Formats: sequence, C-alpha cells, structure tokens
Amino acid sequence: MSTITVKLGERSYPINVDSGILSSSQSFASSISSNKVVVVTNDVVKPLLLDKLLLALLDYEVDVVCIPDGEQHKNLQQFDYVITKLLELKSSRDTTLLALGGGVVGDLTGFVAASYQRGMPFIQVPTTLLSQVDSSVGGKTAVNHPLGKNMIGAFYQPKSVVIDIESLSTLPAREFAAGMAEVIKYGIIYDYQFFSWLEKHADLLNNLSEEHLKYTITRCCEIKAQIVAEDETEKGIRAILNLGHTFGHAIEAEQGYGKWLHGEAVAVGMIIASKVAVHKGWLSESDLIRVEALIAKFKLPISPPANMDYSHFAKHMQHDKKVKSGSIRFVIPNRLGEASVTSDIDVSLLKEILG
Ligand code: NAD
Ligand code: GLY
Repeated sequence: MSTITVKLGERSYPINVDSGILSSSQSFASSISSNKVVVVTNDVVKPLLLDKLLLALLDYEVDVVCIPDGEQHKNLQQFDYVITKLLELKSSRDTTLLALGGGVVGDLTGFVAASYQRGMPFIQVPTTLLSQVDSSVGGKTAVNHPLGKNMIGAFYQPKSVVIDIESLSTLPAREFAAGMAEVIKYGIIYDYQFFSWLEKHADLLNNLSEEHLKYTITRCCEIKAQIVAEDETEKGIRAILNLGHTFGHAIEAEQGYGKWLHGEAVAVGMIIASKVAVHKGWLSESDLIRVEALIAKFKLPISPPANMDYSHFAKHMQHDKKVKSGSIRFVIPNRLGEASVTSDIDVSLLKEILG
C-alpha cells in the first residue's frame, strides 16, 4: 500500500492507495472515532461497491443514503435531501460521513459534512479515476448553482482518503479517459518526468495495468498533497491545478452540465491553454503536439464543440471563480512541467485561437 500524507498541521490526513482495501476494516479504523457511520453513495455505485465497503464497517452502526447519479444532481436539492436524512437518523456531530462514489458524491458529501451541525468528520472513498487523482484530495467541496458550477461550497478537509484501485474495473471507458485528463494535467503543470512517463506507458494504462495505475494515482496524489499543503485555500500556487478549467467550465456550461464530462472539457481546455503558451513563446509547437498526442492517446476530445466560438467562451468565463477585480485569470504552461497564472492575455489572441 502506498500512503501519502496531506500535511495540514492538526488537520493532516492520509491518502491510502492499493488494490482491495475497500473491504478491509484497517483502511478505516484510525479515521472513525465514534460507532456511527453514514455512507452517502449513488444508485450506480451502490450495487457495485456498497457490499464490499460494508465488510470493512462491521464494527459500526451503518446507515446508507443514496442520491441519484449524475452531475445534474450535484445541487442544493440533493444537499437538502442528505441533510434531512441525517436529521431523521438523529446523526450527531460525531457521526462519520463516508462518501462512496465519484467526484459528484464526494463534493456533495463533503459540503454536507462541512455544514451539518457546523461540521462533522468525513472520509472520501473515491471510485472514479478523476476522483481518486483529484477531487477527493484537498478539501474543495461544493454543489452547483444553475448560474454556475461549484458556486456554493466550502474548503473542508476529510479525515482520510481510501483509494481502492480495484474499483476502477467497472468504470466505463469514457469515465476512465476523463480521469486521465486530470492525470495529464499534473504532468503539464508540475512534473515533466511524469508527463514523459505517461507518454511511454499510455497503452498499459489504457489496459488498466494495476501496477501502472497505482504509480499514476500515487504520483498525482503526491503532487496534489504537496500543492494543497502549500496553499490550502488557493491564494497562490493551488490555482495551477485549474489548468484548462476556465475554458473547460465554459464548455460544460454551454453544452449543459453532464453532456461533456468534466475531464473531457478540461482536456480541450488544456489544449487551448497550451496554444496560448505557444503564442506567448513559452511552449514550442512540438510541445503542443506532444500535449495533443497524449490527450488523444486516451481517446479524449482535442477540439472544442463545433457550436462554440470566442463569444460563447467569453460569456461563461466572466462567471469563473478565478475572475478577480474583473479580469479573467488563466493558468498557462510556462513549459512542460510548470505553469503559472496570468491575466495578461489579449482578447485578440483568444479570438484567434477560439474562432
Ligand atoms: P461522477 O461522480 O459523476 O462519476 C462518473 C460516473 O461514474 C457516474 O455515473 C458514477 O456514478 C459512475 N461511477 C463512479 N464510480 C464507479 C465505478 N467504480 N464503476 C462504475 N461506475 C462508477 O464524476 P467524476 O468524474 O468522478 O467527478 C466529476 C465531479 O468532480 C464534477 O462535479 C467536478 O466538478 C468535481 N471535481 C471536484 C474537484 C475538487 O477538487 N473537489 C476536482 C475535480 C473535479
Ligand atoms: N481541482 C482543483 C483543486 O483542487 O484545487
């Protein structure tokens, strides 16, 4: 098992990565402090993984709350539903909430945990690649508002993250690819060697090689843990984790949440950001070709939807959380393996790139 620690003083917590750890009581013992656990999951994950998890929780009184599947349900209505269930179950501030599912379940459950009686302990058990390498780590919790994604939320750290690689065996191929977009992101923003390693091992990853998945997830969690420890509430370096997201969120919002997967939109967003970097002279044309080729190897889209031009992007980008004092802040690679945030991008350049 590999263990990574997110170092946040008294709120530090472990991320454990291995195969088969979902059904082991040892995976949870040190992060559950009372005898009551409420598992929040959805109607797709429940039949696949809940029984395995319950084997690990035999020593506790466990209740299960199930929400409908899908990004369109990451909203205040489902937030209210879970809170109401907790009240009906007479959950206290000591009850541990456990999120079993992808980023939607994890983000919503985390926000419930941050809010219920002003905060209760919670554990992330991410079951998609995207949630294992990104959303379960770092304490960003949120639900969507009709006017904007993740607009209502809190920074609230889990007590631990338990990542069972085996759970990926049932993940649809398209969801796996979406997770790979966030994996590639870490290579572009932080670790050139990892980017090159991904280029070499893409086929093995596409074949779900356990060894290569374990290395990949561990490396991504190490990078994210490092960045979050430096800048928990995104005052500085943490913003680089949003590479591709400003453009990606515009695609998700314009197409209607759920049509484009988050990772698919981020993949295209990373290519747009890399094109900006080429114009700035920070990436070479051959770097851009490598980014596009790696993204394409995982069968991710490499171009924006045909029905979107600059005006559609501009409309949504104004609502982005990264807008500060009216100017949009973009994450752009400085080179492969490093990125920074800038507002200094001419509209004319964006029009040229986005059409
Ligand atoms: P998701 O939670 O919708 O999961 C994708 C699909 O896979 C769903 O249908 C889900 O039910 C299904 N699924 C989950 N585990 C499965 C398994 N093991 N086998 C088969 N099917 C399974 O989507 P996601 O990609 O995991 O997460 C996307 C969400 O994460 C977005 O809402 C995004 O905003 C959020 N996000 C948050 C952060 C953060 O830092 N908090 C970071 C990135 C993304
Ligand atoms: N997914 C971006 C972040 O956690 O900051």
